[in-house]
Amino acid sequence: MIAARFSRIGFILAAAGSAVGLGNIWKFPYITGENGGGAFVLIYLMAITFIGLSIFIAEVAMGRLSRSDAVSAYESLAPKPGPWKFAGFTLLTGILILTYYPIVIGWVFKYIWVAATHLPTTVEASGAAFGEMLTQDASGQIFYFTLAFLCTFLIVSMGVKKGIEKLNLVLMPLLVIILLLLFCYAITLDGFDDALKFLFVADFSKVRATSVMEAVGHAFFTLSLGMCCIMTYSASLPENANIVRSSFTVAVLDTAIALVAGIIIFSLIFSFNAEPGQGPGLLFISLPPLFAQLGMAGTLGATLFFVAVAFAGVTSCISIVEPGVLYLTNRLNWSRPLALLAIGGVAYSLGLLALLSNIEHTGDSLKLFGMGAFDLFDFTSSSILLPLGGILVAVFVGYVMEKQKLEHLLLPYMHPRLFHCWYFSIRYLAPAGVVAMMINKLAA
Ligand code: PFF
Repeated sequence: MIAARFSRIGFILAAAGSAVGLGNIWKFPYITGENGGGAFVLIYLMAITFIGLSIFIAEVAMGRLSRSDAVSAYESLAPKPGPWKFAGFTLLTGILILTYYPIVIGWVFKYIWVAATHLPTTVEASGAAFGEMLTQDASGQIFYFTLAFLCTFLIVSMGVKKGIEKLNLVLMPLLVIILLLLFCYAITLDGFDDALKFLFVADFSKVRATSVMEAVGHAFFTLSLGMCCIMTYSASLPENANIVRSSFTVAVLDTAIALVAGIIIFSLIFSFNAEPGQGPGLLFISLPPLFAQLGMAGTLGATLFFVAVAFAGVTSCISIVEPGVLYLTNRLNWSRPLALLAIGGVAYSLGLLALLSNIEHTGDSLKLFGMGAFDLFDFTSSSILLPLGGILVAVFVGYVMEKQKLEHLLLPYMHPRLFHCWYFSIRYLAPAGVVAMMINKLAA
């Protein structure tokens, strides 16, 4: 059992802070660009509604009913003792994500500085600068990675109420304000109408064979599902919270922020006739020279933009640490500092390996299964372990837990018909969707 509780708004902002991250501002726009725009957005919205939200509510229910760490949650909610408690160890996926997520936050920190002082003016210069940072500049990247790591662990060390809740209460509204300011600016750009058309007019001829599965995979990552993160935050839900409305609010906020980020980015892209399907380099390579063409306003806009991405990244990163910390403090009675030191020590060391695997003269010796450590950690966590965690949640809640417990918890907040839809989804739709996505990723 844990004592610290969020306030109602604190929970919503903390869960939204976890969900809204690099996935929304970096990944969503570039995969939408690669998958042809509007039709992909439509598929993504369906994946969020029918698969993401169902598993989200299932994780919230497990956390709220058990009020405990993930391992204890599986153990206490299973009708009889057995191996289900081991499913709680999917929280370990967080350690793997913690190896590379702060590296990308580190790049964002560096780009706040680049944006404020010397935006590259051509795509060639921008690509060369990013490539140089990624493959040559080990010490610079280690500096920013360490900074991202320290910020994250400092906040988590202050606990759920004083650290996590307080930070989210400040950063999430600031993030929304910055994005709205940039959105207002985007309205004035020539490419705004084209951006809206690109994102909201569905042309199914542009969808690729893998688009549906990519949408499911992203719905999953963006809602922070599959590594007991939402379950862990939900263990600190206040007694009287409407958990269905809170879950819905988080999913809507997460989606809205991804769409607003997409509108801002594509307004710039179309204003300068740039190419929308440029892949992962969209944020760090394509955008800076476009901002540079807008003079002072561009410098200010780019700086604010990267500050917003940094806020989104840090609020997500802290949520990745908490499941492991709660397990070690609640279940093994470790002190919070010791838990943080252990998790931080492992993740930081592996993170250094991941970072050095991208550097030219160290990369070759840090390859496993033909992949650099950075790519390997990313692939293992997002293509294998997160989907696995999601399948376990869906099967556990849909088939193992007593239905009565779920009805008792959810029916006060849900029309019985909606409850049946959700229960159907968690038993059939969600596991089938996630298994298909996993197979698709592994076969790619
Ligand atoms: N939802 C975050 C994003 O979109 O960037 C990433 C994430 C956070 C994944 C927390 C998983 C997690 F547990």
